[in-house]
Amino acid sequence: MIRKMMVVLLGLALTFTFTFSGIAGEKGNKRKGKYTFRTTCRECHKPDASAKEMGPDSKTQAQWETVFNKEKGKYKELKCYKEGHWKDKKKNEALTEKDLLNIFTYLHAHAFDSPSPAKCK
Ligand code: HEC
Repeated sequence: MIRKMMVVLLGLALTFTFTFSGIAGEKGNKRKGKYTFRTTCRECHKPDASAKEMGPDSKTQAQWETVFNKEKGKYKELKCYKEGHWKDKKKNEALTEKDLLNIFTYLHAHAFDSPSPAKCK
C-alpha cells in the first residue's frame, strides 16, 4: 500500500515538474539551436550586417529567459520577429516552437553569466 502511494506521488511530482517548469526548464537541443541560430539569426546579427552583432554572450541568462518567455512572448515584439524574419530558410516557414526552444537552449547555455560564455562564430 505504502509502495503504491509512493509511486503515485512520484508520478505526480514528475508531472508537476514537467508541466510547470516553463521554457527555461525544458530541454532543447543545444547543437541544433546553434545551427538554427547561425543559419537564421546571424545573417543580420553579425558584424557589419543590418542589426547589432549578437551571440550567446550578448545577454545574461535572465535576459535570454525574458526574450524567449513563452507566456509573455517578448520575442513577438521584436522588429525582426514581427517582420517575419524568424524563418526556416530551407522550408521557407516560420520557426517552430521546438526551433525556438533549441535556440534558447544554446543561447542560455553560453550566456554572458553562464559557466561557459561564448560568442557565435
Ligand atoms: C532580416 C534581419 C534579421 C534577422 C534574420 C533576425 N533579426 Fe533580430 N533584429 C533585426 C533588427 C533590424 C533588429 C532591431 C535593431 C537592433 O536591435 O539591432 C533586431 C533586433 C533583435 C533583438 C533585440 C535587440 C537586443 O539586443 O535585444 C533580438 C533579441 C533579436 N533581434 C533576436 C533575433 C533572433 C533570436 C533571430 C533569429 C531567430 C533574429 N533576431 C533574426 C534584424 C534581424
